[in-house]
Amino acid sequence: MKGVVFTEFMEMVEARFSAEMVDDIIEDAQIKSGGAYTAVGNYPFAELVAMITALSRRSGMPTSELIFHFGHYLFGRFAVLYPYSIQSCSSSFMVFEGIEKHIHVEVQKLYPDAQLPDIQVVERDDKRMILLYRSPRCLAPLATGLIQGALDHFSEQGRITAEPLNAEGSEVRFVVELL
Ligand code: HEM
Repeated sequence: MKGVVFTEFMEMVEARFSAEMVDDIIEDAQIKSGGAYTAVGNYPFAELVAMITALSRRSGMPTSELIFHFGHYLFGRFAVLYPYSIQSCSSSFMVFEGIEKHIHVEVQKLYPDAQLPDIQVVERDDKRMILLYRSPRCLAPLATGLIQGALDHFSEQGRITAEPLNAEGSEVRFVVELL
C-alpha cells in the first residue's frame, strides 16, 4: 500500500488522538521500521491493519468507525495533495463518476505499484447513485468515509448505504442519495 496512506494515517492519529497514541500503536503493532514511513514508499497492507487494530484496542472505537474517519480525513487530504484529480468536478457525483475513469487511472500511472479498488457506477440519476466496490483489501468503510468526504467537500447533504454482497466485504454495493 502506498506510503501516502500511511503518512496520512499517522497524521490523522496525531491530530485526532495524540502524538503518544502514534508511538503506542507503533509499539503495539510491532512495526519494525518504528513507523518511519515516507509518502513515496510502499509498505505492507498488514502493517496498516495492525495499527488500526491497535488503535481500536486503545481507543475503544470499532475498527470500521476508525477506518470511516480515516477515509473522511483522506478525501480532504487528497483534495489538497492532488488538486488536479478533482478540479474539473463541481459535485460529488462527478467525482464518483471519475474514480474509475480518471482519478485512479492517474494514480496508477503515477504509482504503477498502487493497489486500487474497482469502483463502478451501476446506476445514476440526479439524486441517486449506485456504486459497486470490489477489492481484496475489503476497505468498504474507507470508501464510505471518502464518499462522505466528497459530499462534505461540495457542501452536499447525502445518505450513504453500504450493502455487503459477500461475507468478507470484498464486494459492496453503495447507494448514495442526495437529500
Ligand atoms: C470519493 C472518491 C474516492 C473513493 C471512493 C476512493 C476509494 C479508494 C479506496 C477504497 C482505496 C483503498 C484501496 C482498496 O480499497 O483496495 C483507495 C486507494 C487510493 N486512492 Fe482512492 N478513492 C477516491 C478518490 C481518490 C482521490 C481523489 C485520489 C487522489 C488522487 C485517490 C487516490 C488513491 C490512492 C493514492 C490510493 C492508495 C493506493 C495504494 O495504496 O496502493 N483516491 N481509494
